[in-house]
Amino acid sequence: MAVAGFVPRSAPFAPDEIDVLNGVLARTTPVQRAWLTGFLAGMDAGQASGAQPLAPPRVRTPLTILYASESGNAEGLAQKARKAALKQGFDAKVLDMADAGLGTLETARNILVFASTWGEGDPPSRAADFYAALMSDKAPRLAGVRFAVLALGDTAYADFCATGRAIDARLEALGAERAASRADLDLDFAKKAADWTERTLERLTPPEAQASATVVHVDFKGPGAAELEPVYTAENPVEAEIATLVNLNGTGSTRETWHVELSPAAADFAYQTGDAIGVLPENDPGVVNALLEAVGLGGDGELIRQFVRGYDVTTLSRPLVEAYATLTGRKDLAKLREPKAFAAWAADRQLIDLFEGFPEKLTAGQLTGLLRPLPGRLYSVASSPRAHTGEAHILVGAVRWSSHGRARGGVASTYFADRREVGNTVRIYVRPNRHFRLPADDAKPVIMIGAGTGVAPYRGFVAERAEAGAKGRSWLFFGERNYTNDFLYQTEWQDHLKSGALTRIDVAFSRDQPEKIYVQHRLWERRAEVHDWLADGAHVYVCGDEKGMARDVDRMLVRILASEVKGDLDAGRARLKELAKAGRYQRDVY
Ligand SMILES: Cc1cc2nc3c(=O)[nH]c(=O)nc-3n(C[C@H](O)[C@H](O)[C@H](O)COP(=O)(O)OP(=O)(O)OC[C@H]3O[C@@H](n4cnc5c(N)ncnc54)[C@H](O)[C@@H]3O)c2cc1C
Ligand SMILES: Cc1cc2nc3c(=O)[nH]c(=O)nc-3n(C[C@H](O)[C@H](O)[C@H](O)COP(=O)(O)O)c2cc1C
Repeated sequence: MAVAGFVPRSAPFAPDEIDVLNGVLARTTPVQRAWLTGFLAGMDAGQASGAQPLAPPRVRTPLTILYASESGNAEGLAQKARKAALKQGFDAKVLDMADAGLGTLETARNILVFASTWGEGDPPSRAADFYAALMSDKAPRLAGVRFAVLALGDTAYADFCATGRAIDARLEALGAERAASRADLDLDFAKKAADWTERTLERLTPPEAQASATVVHVDFKGPGAAELEPVYTAENPVEAEIATLVNLNGTGSTRETWHVELSPAAADFAYQTGDAIGVLPENDPGVVNALLEAVGLGGDGELIRQFVRGYDVTTLSRPLVEAYATLTGRKDLAKLREPKAFAAWAADRQLIDLFEGFPEKLTAGQLTGLLRPLPGRLYSVASSPRAHTGEAHILVGAVRWSSHGRARGGVASTYFADRREVGNTVRIYVRPNRHFRLPADDAKPVIMIGAGTGVAPYRGFVAERAEAGAKGRSWLFFGERNYTNDFLYQTEWQDHLKSGALTRIDVAFSRDQPEKIYVQHRLWERRAEVHDWLADGAHVYVCGDEKGMARDVDRMLVRILASEVKGDLDAGRARLKELAKAGRYQRDVY
C-alpha cells in the first residue's frame, strides 16, 4: 500500500518499484529525506557532465551524550540515543560520567544527558565525582552550549529524578541553552524515552544541517553497545518454566530466601554472569480485589485479571496521592501533599491504605488513570551460562511485614514464594550489567563480598571460573544472620573449596554471638591478606543491600586501604576510587 505523502501510484515506476520506494521512504527521518533530495538532484547534474553523482556537503552536528547510570538503564538509553543520532546525521559520541571531566562540557556544542537517581536522591556512584564537580564553583560557563536532560527514577522514591533535575537546573545556571524540556521518567520509561530522544534530536538539528546533512557510513555499535541490547527486554519478555523452587533457609530461620531455576523457552536467551534477570511479576489477586473493593469495583473477575498483570496496585507515591486528591477533590488529603508529612505517613503503608483511609468510589477508567504499569523486578543472576546451560538461576528474598493491622508482602518475591510452583511459567528478560564482570584475565584473583541475597552473583562467578578452569584465586566474604539456618549454598561452597574453584571463604553470622559481626568486620580482621590480594591485582566485588551493607563495606575498604598509609582516610578514598576507575572495584547494589 502506498504511504500517504510518498510516491503516488501515478508515478513513472512499476507498481512493485513504487512499493519498494515507499517501503524505504516510510522509514526515513526528515534529515534523510532532505539528503535524498539533494542527492538525487546532484545525480542528474553529474549525469549531464559525465561526472560521479554529487554528494551534498558534509555537515555533521557534534553531539555529546553523557550518562549517569548505576544498573544500566540510563546507559542503555544513551546508547540507543547515539544510534538514533548517527542516523540523523549527528557526529555523536557517548560518554559515561565516570570517565568524563568538566572539560568535556566546555568543548561540547550539544549535550544530551541521561541520568538516573539512586540512594536517596543521589547520583549513581560512578557518576558521583563528575556530579560534584558540576555542582561546584569549578564548573565552567557554558554559553553557546545547547542541552537537554532525560531523568530516570522511580516515583516510589521521595526524591523522584533528583539527579536529572539538578543537572538540568545546573546546566542552565551555567549559561547553557535548554534545547528541549526535561523528561522525568518512571520505571515505564522505554517508549517515552525513545519518543523524547527523537523529538529532542530534531530540536538539536540546526536548520542548515536539516537541509544538507549527509548520512555517512557509521558504526552503530558504540563501546559496550552490543552488551546493552539483549533480545529479551521488559517490553519483549520470554516465558520461562520454573524448574526448581526451594527455600534455602532452615525451618527455624527468620529469613526466607528462594532459589529459583528458570528454563527460558528460547534458544537465543543469553546472559552473562554479573547480569540481572528481570521478572515481570503478577500481583496477589486477593490484594487486587481488596483494592478494587475499596473503590467500589470489587468482585469483577475480568478487572481482577487485568490488574493482576497490568498495574502497580501497591506502591504509594506522592504524585499518586496528589492525583487522587485532585480527582476526588478531598480537602483532607492536603496535609499529605507536604513531602515530610507524606513520607512519615507512607513509610509502612500501601495504596490500599489511601483508598480505605480516604474512601471514594472510582470508575475503572479513573482507577487505571491513577495507577502506573506494574514494573519488572531485577534479580542478580545466580548461575553461569557455561555451567548451567539453558538455565538462569536467581535468589529471591521474600519481603513480608505487618503494619496497621494488615499482613503485607512484596509483589515479585511473594509471587515466587506463594503463587508459583515448579512447572509454572514466569515472564523474564535480561538486564545486562557490564559494570559487574569477572576480570577478562582469569588468572587475576577476585574478592567477592556479599550478604544475604548479595551472594547470588558469586554463585555464577565461581561456577563460571570453575568451568573455564580459571587459574586465579577467589575469596568469598558471606554474611547472614545465623550459621545453622542461613548459610546460603553452603554445600556448594564446600564443594568448590574442595575442588579449588573457591580458594577461601570467610563468613559473618551476625546473630550467632552477643555482638553483631558483619562482613565488613571480617574484612578488617583479614586486612593484611586483603592488601596482599590487592597487590596481586585482585578485583573486588560488593553485592547486596545498599544501605545496610554496601555503604559499610565501602567505608571499611577505605579504612583498610588507609591503613597502608598511616590511616590517612583521604588517601584510602583516593585509592578505592582508583580501583573503581580501573574496573577493580565493582558493585551490584540495591
Ligand atoms: C540491580 C538489582 C539487583 C537485585 N538483585 C536481587 C537479588 O538477587 N535478590 C533479591 O531478593 N532482590 C534483588 N533485588 C531487589 C528486587 O529487585 C526487588 O526489589 C525485591 O525482590 C522486592 O521486590 P518485591 O516485588 O517483592 O517487593 P515490592 O512489591 O517492590 O515491595 C517492596 C517495598 O515494600 C516496602 N517494604 C518492604 N519491607 C517493608 C517493611 N518491613 N516495612 C514497611 N515497608 C516495607 C518498601 O516500600 C519496599 O520498597 C535487586 C534489585 C536491583 C535493582
Ligand atoms: C536502591 C535504589 C535507590 C533508588 N533511589 C531513587 C531515588 O532516590 N529517586 C528516584 O527517582 N529513583 C530512585 N531509584 C530508581 C532508579 O533511578 C531507577 O530504577 C532507574 O531506572 C535506574 O537507572 P540506571 O539503571 O541507569 O541506574 C532507586 C533505585 C534503587 C534500586
